[in-house]
Amino acid sequence: MYRSIARLALQHQRCLVRHINSAARKRRSLPSAFPVLDLPLQAIHQHVYEANHRNSKTCHNKYIELNKKVTKGGGDNAIARHTQRNRKLLVQDRLRLLLDDEDFIELSRFAGLGLPYGDIPSAGCLTGIGRINGLWCVFIANDATVKGGTAYPITVKKQLRAQEVAIQNRLPCVYLVDSGGAFLPLQSEIFPDKNQGGRTFYNEAIMSAMKIPQVSVVCGSCTAGGAYIPTMAEEAVMVHRIGTMFLGGPPLVKAATGEEVTPEDLGGARLHAEVSGCVDHFAWEEKEAFEYTRNIISTLNFTLPEENENEENMRNEEERPLYSSDELLGLAPRSYNYSLDVKMVISRLTDGSRFQEFKGCFGTTLITGFAKIYGHLIGIVANNGELSYQAALKGSHFVQLCDQRDVPLLFLQNTAPSAALTLSVPQAEIHSNRIKAQGSMMSAVACASVPKITVVIGGCHGADSYAMCGRSFDPNFLFLWPNARVSMTAAGHAGSLLHPNSEHQQDDKEMANKMEHNLNKKFEEESSAFFSSGRLWDDGVILPQDTRRVLRDCLDIIKQQQYQLSTEKLQSVLLRI
Ligand code: COA
Repeated sequence: MYRSIARLALQHQRCLVRHINSAARKRRSLPSAFPVLDLPLQAIHQHVYEANHRNSKTCHNKYIELNKKVTKGGGDNAIARHTQRNRKLLVQDRLRLLLDDEDFIELSRFAGLGLPYGDIPSAGCLTGIGRINGLWCVFIANDATVKGGTAYPITVKKQLRAQEVAIQNRLPCVYLVDSGGAFLPLQSEIFPDKNQGGRTFYNEAIMSAMKIPQVSVVCGSCTAGGAYIPTMAEEAVMVHRIGTMFLGGPPLVKAATGEEVTPEDLGGARLHAEVSGCVDHFAWEEKEAFEYTRNIISTLNFTLPEENENEENMRNEEERPLYSSDELLGLAPRSYNYSLDVKMVISRLTDGSRFQEFKGCFGTTLITGFAKIYGHLIGIVANNGELSYQAALKGSHFVQLCDQRDVPLLFLQNTAPSAALTLSVPQAEIHSNRIKAQGSMMSAVACASVPKITVVIGGCHGADSYAMCGRSFDPNFLFLWPNARVSMTAAGHAGSLLHPNSEHQQDDKEMANKMEHNLNKKFEEESSAFFSSGRLWDDGVILPQDTRRVLRDCLDIIKQQQYQLSTEKLQSVLLRI
């Protein structure tokens, strides 16, 4: 009796969920006729526009150069060894078999470049979000052409960030494992700490308990720590002759016991599918493994919104901005002094260049308001000068408003190069008020539970960048334009950090000047977008003209969780056999 009541209650709950989801699918946002931002380029902008454009071209060339470098992975010899001797597919070809199409968001493509321990192309693994049978999934795929797919500290950081993206946006995870485990010379930076190697496995368990599906494909070596990724996944596929999984390989067995054993007998696909049960699907070849994986994704119990092709086309065509996205290249500021009205940037990103401004006459160094991107309603917060007292108050108000209405936030960040100096008592009072208002905006941003996306379109400096949802404020996604500059204080402004009346400066002006010069040089070198992205302080460098499409994908991705049918259970899928 009790059981049948429980069953009825469960059925009722499922009906309700289905009803809510079908309602969500059918829902249309209210019609809007936000005012058009009629802001064409004018003669007065020409000088700044052209300087920005030249700088954007230089940055673009650097982008192309790094892109080429990364595409080669571990280099020609390693590629030949991987494909000819080891008979494995390259990671890009694996993704082609796994994903529906090539329209995916790759995360932090330049991570690993220019590090103290060398260039590690793509940090030795590709991560991103792509569609499998229409469902957006996070993928984490080792590139074994880079030192056998071993994990450097930056590899671990990149994998953990991809998992964080999956957690924050509730996206299924697919791991393509082909890794020799830890890169041993750097083991102390990979193994012991909280956010290091072990965290990957911890996250797998936690995500599974949160009902974020975990699927793994063993398509190469899976040695030592790497072996836990498939073992802890909810479902794992392994490829015959290519996949191996063990804690210590044949050389270790030989050294310890003198016994000669083949990798296949020690931990091949047959053994793990038939004897240990560590994997659930045996595939004869890689192509078959990816077919299994795509089918596994179909069993996750998600539904997708019904697509009407005509509507989709209309959405793409009719609501384009009035101006070409190429004009963003001339609006991307080469430095803070070259910033044009940020509404010109907004008008080249939003549907129909429409923007419903909020508090347009108050705190005008911050622009806030509502717009749509491919039909998604968003709240935009954009720097248009220093984050003054009024601007920060307005920012807090608007962020809370969006939080109240469940409207995702887009921050367009271009913060002032340095904090203003306090040289008098009235100035001190102004600055104290400003600190209070900025603190309030930071608090509003930190506590807003709506999804947040940050795009650094210019400078990312000082405390203003925190209030504008910098990395430490946990945006769902944070991208940089190639012209972006990331540093505490912008190059050329180091003097503002050094005390103007210090004895040291009076005694030895030359030395102080030298110090300032060196500091500015350091800021210059360390503030480029590529330096930042190499260290994974962001989710990647995107081109200004691609921004609207990237934002559309991010907003689609964020929205996907409403189509998950089964509800949360606080237990991971447990252990095999
Ligand atoms: N740490 C550091 N470097 C490693 C490494 C590791 N764990 N595993 C492999 N490498 C390096 C190799 O020295 C080689 O470097 P090189 O290109 O400069 O010569 C490169 O990675 C490729 O290795 P190689 O063995 O030539 O390629 P492969 O495709 O035939 O085999 C592996 C790749 C990963 C299967 C194999 O190297 C291996 O089994 N490595 C040991 C794995 C291990 O025991 N890990 C324990 C970690 S806790």
